[in-house]
Amino acid sequence: MRALVYQGPAKKSLEQRPIPEIGASTDAIVKITRTTICGTDLHILKGDVPSCQAGRVLGHEGVGVVHQVGPSVTTFRPGERVLISCISSCGKCMYCRRQMYSHCTSGGWILGNTIDGTQAEYVRIPYADTSLYRVPDDADEEALVMLSDILPTGFECGVLNGKVRPGGTVAIVGAGPIGLAALLTAQFYSPAQIIMIDLDNNRLEVAKRFGATSTINSARGDTAKEVMKMTGELGVDTAIEAVGIPATFELCEDLVAPGGTIANIGVHGAKVDLHLERLWDRNITITTRLVDTVSTPMLLSSLRANRIDAKLLITHRFRFVDILDAYETFSHAADTRALKVIIEI
Ligand SMILES: NC(=O)c1ccc[n+]([C@@H]2O[C@H](COP(=O)([O-])OP(=O)(O)OC[C@H]3O[C@@H](n4cnc5c(N)ncnc54)[C@H](O)[C@@H]3O)[C@@H](O)[C@H]2O)c1
Ligand SMILES: [Zn+2]
Ligand SMILES: [Zn+2]
Repeated sequence: MRALVYQGPAKKSLEQRPIPEIGASTDAIVKITRTTICGTDLHILKGDVPSCQAGRVLGHEGVGVVHQVGPSVTTFRPGERVLISCISSCGKCMYCRRQMYSHCTSGGWILGNTIDGTQAEYVRIPYADTSLYRVPDDADEEALVMLSDILPTGFECGVLNGKVRPGGTVAIVGAGPIGLAALLTAQFYSPAQIIMIDLDNNRLEVAKRFGATSTINSARGDTAKEVMKMTGELGVDTAIEAVGIPATFELCEDLVAPGGTIANIGVHGAKVDLHLERLWDRNITITTRLVDTVSTPMLLSSLRANRIDAKLLITHRFRFVDILDAYETFSHAADTRALKVIIEI
C-alpha cells in the first residue's frame, strides 16, 4: 500500500508499505477512503513532537471501510463504513471509565504518533470496538472526516469546558480550523455574542460566515479594549484560547469577565505568565484538556440532523497520490486560504 511517512524533522515521503496486520485480538484493519491533514502533523514535521519517530505513517483523522477484524471485535464486521477517532480507547482502564479517553493507559493519542496512522491506504486500529464509530449509509463522508478530531476538540476543550451558555458572551482567540470548530459548536447553546479574534483577515471573514457576531484583527493591538467596549466593560463569560502561544493565552486573561472561564485548547510549547495579581479576586476558572472524543456520538447525530455544517471547514480536495501537494497547500494557509483539505484514497 502507499503511505505518507515522517522521515524526521522537515522530511516526509510517499512510500510503499506492507498492509498492516491484526496484532491484538481487539484490532481492526480499516481501508481508508478519506483522510485529512491536521496542524498537529505540521507540528510533528517541525520536530515538536518527540514521541513521533522517523518512519511513522502520519495521520489521525479519517473515514473508511472495515477490512478485517480481530477475533475479540464484536461491534464491527468487514464491509462496514466507520469513522476513526483520533483517540484510541481501551474502554476499560481507570481513565476510560471516567470518559477521559485521551488519557487511556494503553491508548490516547497514539495514531500517527506512536503507531502508524491514517494517511495510508490501510490502518490498524487498536481497541476497534471503542475507537471506531459506525457511520450511516447516507452520511456525507467528507463532513464525517471533520469529526475525527477538530469538531470534538473545539466542542469539548472550548465549548463544554468554557461553559458556553444561552445569552452568554464568548471570545475565541484563533480562527484556525479548531477555533472555527469551537465557533460552529458554540452555537448549539445560543450565546448572545461570539467575538472571533485572529491576525488573518481572510479567516475572520470566514468566521463571520460561520456565525461570529463580531471579529477583531488583533494585529491592531487594542483587542482587550475593543472587547471591553463590545461587552459593556465586563469582558466575556468564556474566553477560548485556540492558538497555543503565550500572547494569546495572556489575551484571554485580559478578556475574561468576573465569574468567567478561560478554556485553553492550544498546544503550548512555552511557559505562560498567569497574572494572579489581577485575577485572584475575579472568581474565574481556567481549564485545559486533551480532546477525549466523548462527544463524537452526539456530534454524529447533530451532523445527520443538519444541525451543524461541518463541510464549511473544507477548502481543498486532493487525490492520495498528490498528498505532498496537499501538505504544501495546507502548510501555506495564509496564501492558499486553506482550512481543512480532504484527501481521497
Ligand atoms: N487540546 C487539544 O486536544 C488539541 C487538539 C487539536 C489541536 N490543538 C491545538 O489547537 C490549536 C489550534 O489549532 P489549529 O489547527 O486551528 O491551528 P492553526 O495554526 O491553523 O490556527 C491558529 C490561528 O491562530 C492565529 N494566530 C496566530 N497568532 C495569533 C495571535 N497572536 N493572535 C491572534 N491569532 C493568532 C493564526 O492566524 C491562525 O488562524 C493548536 O495549538 C493545536 O495544536 C489542541
Ligand atoms: Zn489533529
Ligand atoms: Zn483505557
